[in-house]
Amino acid sequence: MSKNLRLCEVADVKDGEPVAAFAEGMPALAVYNVDGEIFVTDNLCTHGNAMLTDGYQDGDVIECPFHGGSFDIKTGAANAFPCQVAIVSYPVEIEDGWVCITKP
Ligand code: FES
Repeated sequence: MSKNLRLCEVADVKDGEPVAAFAEGMPALAVYNVDGEIFVTDNLCTHGNAMLTDGYQDGDVIECPFHGGSFDIKTGAANAFPCQVAIVSYPVEIEDGWVCITKP
């Protein structure tokens, strides 16, 4: 049975300042605010051992801190070389002011 996992409070995620989040049984996660809308992706870059929350958010793009690759925050698609493999993007639900995803 799937269940909602609470990651962090919506109020803690500022536009342009992604937040690292952890949930049991899940890989490291990144929570973003893009113009007031919340998105969640895997935090680990698919090119190397970098946490995207250490990178730079520009609108709906997250740039990896290591080699300049980037991803689309809304879809997880790889945007810029050397990133070629998408990161996982999770459907988000807001529950009592908390950012939640459903554990697959
Ligand atoms: Fe992210 Fe290389 S580790 S671009």
